[in-house]
Amino acid sequence: MDTDARATRGLEWQVGVWDRISQLYLREVDPRFATVVENVVRRGDLKPGQQVLDLGTGTGAVAVAAAGLVGPAGQVTAVDISPDMLTLARRRLVESGYTNVDLRVGRAEQLPVDDRACDVLLASLSLMYVLDRAAAAREMKRVLRPGGRVVAAVWARAERCDIVLFQQTAGKFAPPPPVPGVGPGALADPAPFLAQLTDVGIDVRVETEELGFDFPDFDLAWEVLAGVTTAQLAPERQQEAKEAVQAIMWPQGRGPRHFRNMTQFLVGRLAA
Ligand SMILES: C[S@@+](CC[C@H](N)C(=O)[O-])C[C@H]1O[C@@H](n2cnc3c(N)ncnc32)[C@H](O)[C@@H]1O
Repeated sequence: MDTDARATRGLEWQVGVWDRISQLYLREVDPRFATVVENVVRRGDLKPGQQVLDLGTGTGAVAVAAAGLVGPAGQVTAVDISPDMLTLARRRLVESGYTNVDLRVGRAEQLPVDDRACDVLLASLSLMYVLDRAAAAREMKRVLRPGGRVVAAVWARAERCDIVLFQQTAGKFAPPPPVPGVGPGALADPAPFLAQLTDVGIDVRVETEELGFDFPDFDLAWEVLAGVTTAQLAPERQQEAKEAVQAIMWPQGRGPRHFRNMTQFLVGRLAA
C-alpha cells in the first residue's frame, strides 16, 4: 500500500472508531475527562472577544466552556474528523444556548480555518490521534496569529497513566492500526512533537498533573475503554485481552478501580 492509500485508510479507520464510540463517549467518557477539559480551558486563559480554535472537539466540552469565556464578542471554531461526534457537540451547544461556536468537519493536518485567525488553540486529548503530526504543527502555526497561544492535553506513558496502560495491554491483541504511532500513548514522550512545533516557531513547555477517574467495575471499564482498541476482535481474542487487562489492573476481583492518569499539558506560544 502506498503512503497516500495508507493515510486515507488511516483516516477512515480513525473516523470509524470515533463515530462508533460517540454515544458511549458522551455518556461515560465525558464526565471522566471533565478535569482534563477544565485544566485545558484554565490554562487557555481566555478573554472576552478572543478567537479560539478547539481542535478535536469531540462532543464539544471545551468548545462550550470556551464559548462562555470569550463571550458574544468572541468566537469558537470547533473542528473534528468525526461527524457523529460533531452531531453530539451540536446538540450540546443548542442546549447551552451559546451561538458563538462554529462546528466544522476537518482534520488537524488540513484545518478548515483561515490563516492567522486564532488567538488561542486548544486541543484536549486529540493530538495523539493525528496521523501526520508534522503537518498538524504546520497548520497550527498557519492558523495562529503571531503571539497566539496553544494549550494541548496528552496522556503520559503507561507506567504513570492507567488509561494508557489499559489501552496498550488490550491493544496487544488487536491488529496494528493502519498508520503506526497513533493512539492514547502516542505523545507520552512529547519531545519529537515539541521539536516539530519548535521548527514552525511554536515554543512549548510541558506541565504535568495527576488527574483521575473511577470505574465501578471491570465490566464497565471494558465496555467504555476497549472500543478504541479491541472492538473488532474475534471473541476468543477478546477473552484473552480481557484476561490480560484483568491480570495487570484488577488482580483482586472485578470491583471498583481508580485510574491515576498523569496528564501532560503542552503550553506554548507562536513567536510574535
Ligand atoms: C479523546 S477525544 C477528545 C475529545 C474532546 N477534545 C475532549 O477532551 O473530550 C479525541 C477526538 O479527536 C478527534 N480527532 C482524531 N484525530 C483527529 C484529527 N486528525 N483532526 C481533528 N480531530 C481528530 C476524534 O474524532 C475525537 O473526537
